[in-house]
Formats: sequence, C-alpha cells, structure tokens
Amino acid sequence: MFTKGSLEDLAQVSRQLISWNQHPSGGYVASPLFHHYGFSWLRDGTFIAYAMDTTGEHESARRFYDWINRIIARKTNQIDDLIAKHQRGENIPQDEFLHTRYHLDGSDDTDSEWGHFQLDGYGAWLWGVTEHWRRNGVTEIPESFRVSIDSTIQYLSAFWNYPNFDCWEEFSDKLHPATLACIFGGLRSIASFAGRSELFGICDKIQDFILKHAMHPDGYIVKYITPVYEISEAVRYELGTAEVDASLMWLCEPFEVLPIDHPAMRKTFAKLTADLRTIRGGIRRYVTDTYYGGGEWLLLTAWYGLLQLRSGNTEEARESLAWIGEQADSLGRLPEQVPDALQDFQGYEEWVRRWGTPALPLLWSHAMYLVLYNKLREVEISNSPF
Ligand code: BGC
Repeated sequence: MFTKGSLEDLAQVSRQLISWNQHPSGGYVASPLFHHYGFSWLRDGTFIAYAMDTTGEHESARRFYDWINRIIARKTNQIDDLIAKHQRGENIPQDEFLHTRYHLDGSDDTDSEWGHFQLDGYGAWLWGVTEHWRRNGVTEIPESFRVSIDSTIQYLSAFWNYPNFDCWEEFSDKLHPATLACIFGGLRSIASFAGRSELFGICDKIQDFILKHAMHPDGYIVKYITPVYEISEAVRYELGTAEVDASLMWLCEPFEVLPIDHPAMRKTFAKLTADLRTIRGGIRRYVTDTYYGGGEWLLLTAWYGLLQLRSGNTEEARESLAWIGEQADSLGRLPEQVPDALQDFQGYEEWVRRWGTPALPLLWSHAMYLVLYNKLREVEISNSPF
C-alpha cells in the first residue's frame, strides 16, 4: 500500500517496480508502459543496477551485469574490426559502432528512431560493474567477464574522442563533456580495481581535454564542443554553444573528473542551477530542450540533490527528494519528466500527440530517487548522535 507523501513508501515501491520490470534475462526495461522505451539501455540500466546495489538488491544488479557481459562478449569481433579500421585511419560510419540499447533478449535494436552510437553507456557500465564487485567483496575481475571488460576498455580507449550521440540521444556530430565523464569514470574505476595503471594516462588526457576545449571564457564547462576537421587532417575544437546541460553534474557525481570545489565545477553547477532549476525545485535538461517541451526531469533533480549532498547541503538534498516524492502518482509511480514549468507548451502538446504523455513509470527516475534516498539516510545516520 502506497501513501502519497511517504518517502519510505516511495523507496519501497521503487525497489518493487524495478524488480518487477527486470526481464528474466537480466535487462531492465526503461519504461514498461511507454512503447518507445521498451528496451534496456546501458546507461539507464547501469544506474538502475547501481540503485539496486545501494539498496541491498545485489542479485538484481548481478543479473543485469551478466546480461551486458553476454552481449558484449558476442561483439568482440565487431570491436576488433572497428579498432583495426581506426588504426588504419579509415573513416568509420556511425552506424557501425556498438549500440546503446538492446531488446530484452539481448538482440540489437535495429529499427528505432534514435542514433545508436553513444559511448556514455559503455563507460557507465565499466564504472557500475566495478562498483558492484567492490560492494560485494569481489577483488578481481571474474574470469567470465575478462573478455567483455577487456573489449570495452579497448573500445573506449580507441574512440573516446570520436563525436557521438549524447546521453539524450542528440547532437551526434559533437563531443559531450558528460559522455567523456562516463568514459573517464569507467576507465578510472577499472584501472584502480584491476591494477591497470596504464589507463590512468587516458583518464588524464580526457580530463585535460575537457578543461582545455570545453571551458567557456566565463569559467564553466559547456554542453558540447564541435570538432572542426581541417584540410591538413588536424582537428580543431570550437565551443559549440554557451549552454550548459544538467548532465554536466556527472563530471562530479559519480565520476569525479572534477571535485565539487574545483573552480570550473563550482561555476558549472552555479550556472546550471541558475539556468535549469525552476522555482518549484525541479531540474530541466537544457535551456533549448524541445522534447516534451523541456520539462523538469526527476532523475536530474535527484542528481542535483546528490551534488548538494557533496557540498554538505543536506537540507537542499532533502528538498530535492521531497520534490521528487510530490511527482509520484497515486500508485507511487514516477514519470520521466513533468510539464509543470514548461519552456515550450506547444512542443509538449506536439509530443503528446505523437507519442502520448511522457514515460510513466520510468525506472531510471525510480533508481535515482533510491540513490538519493539511501545516500541521505547514510548521511543522517552518520550525523546522528545515537
Ligand atoms: C533519454 C535517454 C534515455 C531513454 C530511456 C530518452 O528520452 O534521452 O537518456 O536513455 O529516454 O530512458
């Protein structure tokens, strides 16, 4: 039984909904009732598995990582071919790269509208699976994962600076600091977990690259940068925009490219708070977002709470959690986004005509609610005098 307003009940429902919507194969469906989200994404799935780990449901997380392991292990020849082309300096069309979402039976999605080449999910999974092993007392890469982990490392090491679709499946000709953060986080996690110290060098390069090429003159990191290919075959990077994107929070939480008190992180967080936080307390993706009119995303509001926690602002984090709680329907289901402070109402209506109302429930929203809920509890317990 769910009582609206009870944060504990919502945590319970979130755990339940995630469990119910994990396919026996291990994949989590992004949203069971929204036709276009009937896949399991590496990105959503990793954060969902992470949430399950933070809530003690390790078996669920294990099944998800086994599912990805099996998918990637089947793709090692494709990865080897891509790397060989890269080494020969060949142009590789974007549709030859690994996909970002799979059918629940692990087969490729060959006919949805979105672009497939998205590197963030592969970085996130490397990070997530090592977090999972650490929490479960595993001290070295299990034999059955060696092939897929090694292939993922080679894939990311070769292609990290290739333009690809961002985490919102847009802007495929750009480079996205949030995607680079996922790659950095994945490579760094596995480097320290498996003693692969040579990977720290790539992580340093990624960090330098972001600070050198994605920094706005005002000192914050921008949403994306544009590679410009010169006739000499040299690449130059232009600031693609002055906008920020809420996914830039990933630079700090959880991937730690920049600490919360780094001047560029401080300015980025301040800018996105000013531009993307509504008076009601929800967080939008980016100012010119048109998907469903650019509503407030629950998972990003949880991320905002996590950054506030990192800054020591427990009260603000609690407010974010409470705001998410208010968006639950009478069954305790959380949507992807809410249209209460829209930037573009017509855009919202157009999307509703096309695809129906926004995805509900969205497992990733439930996952990020759980992550914030559990982190807040940890902080509260450690601050308690008893
Ligand atoms: C979002 C993606 C997400 C997918 C499934 C899309 O609208 O842009 O980030 O992976 O929905 O939740």
